[in-house]
Amino acid sequence: MSVAEDVRARAKIAPKYEPAVKFSTRRPGHANIFISDLDKAYAFYNGVCGFEGVGFERSIKAGFVSNGNTHHDFGLVQASFQPRIGKDGKQQSINNYVGKPGLNHIGWETVNQKELVAAYNRGVKAGVEFKQVLHHGGSWAIYLYDPDGTVHEFYADTTKDWRQYLSGAHDLGLITSQWNPNVGTPIEDHNWIDDPEYRHVEGAPIRPLRVARTVFMVSDVDYVMPFYRDVAGLELVYAAPDKSYAYLRGSAKQTSFDICLVRNDVDADLGYHHIACEMPNEKAIAEAEANLAKAGIPILQKVDDSRKRSFFLEDPDKLKVEFFVDRKPDFAALAKVKTDLRPLFA
Ligand SMILES: [Fe+2]
Repeated sequence: MSVAEDVRARAKIAPKYEPAVKFSTRRPGHANIFISDLDKAYAFYNGVCGFEGVGFERSIKAGFVSNGNTHHDFGLVQASFQPRIGKDGKQQSINNYVGKPGLNHIGWETVNQKELVAAYNRGVKAGVEFKQVLHHGGSWAIYLYDPDGTVHEFYADTTKDWRQYLSGAHDLGLITSQWNPNVGTPIEDHNWIDDPEYRHVEGAPIRPLRVARTVFMVSDVDYVMPFYRDVAGLELVYAAPDKSYAYLRGSAKQTSFDICLVRNDVDADLGYHHIACEMPNEKAIAEAEANLAKAGIPILQKVDDSRKRSFFLEDPDKLKVEFFVDRKPDFAALAKVKTDLRPLFA
């Protein structure tokens, strides 16, 4: 099926959008990924990438890692054909459990519960099909598909003190249950942390700060843009004149962009291309590269141009992860990069 045919096929099942929804999205908080083996994935994200283990739900073979920026940078969830059941006995997973490794969802941090509930109610009124509405203990969360079939989570934190309920526990039990956004008065507290205490894993080759952004392959930039702009509430930073790629970001503006959408001209899978983790400085990148070489861990790709310095690794399930420091943003320059390399140089 060509990309154009694929877009037409997907348009028939595309969710309905209304410009009025606009979640108050600040930034990507985490990537939740399906993995084939929790021990192997944890050894990579903790032992190699340097993210601290903050808690596990052993009965569903899930684990969370964070370096302090927020309650988790990565959620690692066993890939399975079975639905996951939460602590209230109800299904907590969305119907994207395909039994194979890949992105489960990107978690987007929003301003607060009040704004989250308001966007949800605007969406319900407009006929948007939300797939799950959950209480994770430390966050309230709303899930839906984008037009390419990728799941996005929009959430607000219940507390700044997420370490109190995650606590690095070997087994937290189950933490998720259903949530009715319209029961109770939503709070206006801003529970993200402005100046987090960043941690690292002693002995790990890499010392990243946080999951900072992502690159997605999309069927067609114009086709998916209403979702990212009008539902996700992201600001368009730059769109290539030929519509082959676009950059967007949320209101926190911690780096030059939060997501790059690259048109799928190379027949890749739609959705996740890679997650990018911000490094503190270029010295930390050089040190990480040297540590990886010493440990015999192969680097998939290095990028060292006027816009960024970074390197890519593959996790045990062949998902790509980038570690970067920005130099001078130049969004138009990506057009000069060969089509198949654009997601790496984004
Ligand atoms: Fe999530």
